[in-house]
Amino acid sequence: MSKILVTGGTGYIGSHTVVELHNAGYEVVIIDDLSNSSIKILDQIEAIIGVKPEFHQFDLCDVQKVNDFAAKHNDITGIIHFAAFKAVGESVQKPLKYYKNNFFSLINLLEAFNRKINFVFSSSCTVYGQPDNLPVTEAEKVKQAESPYGNTKQIAEEILVETAAVTPDLNVVALRYFNPVGAHETALIGELPIGVPANLVPFITQSAIGKRSAITVYGNDYNTPDGSAIRDYIHVVDLAKAHVAAIKRMESTSAETNYEVFNIGTGKGSSVLEIIKAFESSTGEKLNYQIGPRREGDIEQIYGDVTKSKELLNWQTELDINEMMRSAWEWEKYIKANPF
Ligand code: WQD
Repeated sequence: MSKILVTGGTGYIGSHTVVELHNAGYEVVIIDDLSNSSIKILDQIEAIIGVKPEFHQFDLCDVQKVNDFAAKHNDITGIIHFAAFKAVGESVQKPLKYYKNNFFSLINLLEAFNRKINFVFSSSCTVYGQPDNLPVTEAEKVKQAESPYGNTKQIAEEILVETAAVTPDLNVVALRYFNPVGAHETALIGELPIGVPANLVPFITQSAIGKRSAITVYGNDYNTPDGSAIRDYIHVVDLAKAHVAAIKRMESTSAETNYEVFNIGTGKGSSVLEIIKAFESSTGEKLNYQIGPRREGDIEQIYGDVTKSKELLNWQTELDINEMMRSAWEWEKYIKANPF
């Protein structure tokens, strides 16, 4: 059984990916410093899959700890690297914190696992900025990032391209996520935002449960059908399965190159107002919202062309916007009844 290291494996996307790796027959090892997640997630994962994954708590910026771990785990065949800071707004206020953490962790991993390894990198559609063409394909030029967070994703991809070019034993797949939302069908794992959620869907569910006030729609004067901004929302379980597909692709030797990048979205755009209506119709909950000014740094619309993922990863999304909203709401109610 192949053993996969999941860094950031107690986080939102990481925990769902641990579940899907197990379901696909992989053994999983997690490294997480718990700076943005709860160790209780390990119990929740165990409740879903019946086993508690091997877990190591340390900071991937600690080069000695990363080297010691790699030396003791020479049976790891793949790495899925989630561990990184990802708050766009915070990255503007604290750029050095983001550059140091997101690059030191990546470089330490690549240097410590300097042997045959399959490496999945958690990238983002933010690398496109506001694309010139929609739906956006992987061939779209990468634009100057609008935040240090987005810049860390762009530069990390470049580090991987240039390292893979001179490291035949390193296979890399970069997955450019669109907007991950929703939760596992058991409602035992989901998104655990710390503080006031910046992202739309967790703010919606916290508003619906009474934890937050009315939702502010950041702008309804965009050049879109209903004036609100459009994004490609993808169910986190579908996103998790894309990581398993990426590992399988690198294990199958069907790729002509040892660096590939894929858009991971639904291929469909939804506006903020459409998301609000979808939440209300799929949960029966009435939302209070108001229209406010645009949010600094937001783009007008983006949604992915996912042809390449479908053809080469043999993967496509299966869960629709109603299941995204329903599962997000079930998770919010679970967390209220079982606070971590
Ligand atoms: C979605 C839409 C907001 C909150 C972010 C990261 C990106 C990626 C996905 C990691 C926008 C609007 C939001 C609210 C609103 N993460 N909105 N009221 O900004 O598209 O992308 O998450 O890879 O890197 O930047 O997601 O959920 O913050 O916003 O109207 O209270 O909802 O303006 O149009 P975003 P989001």
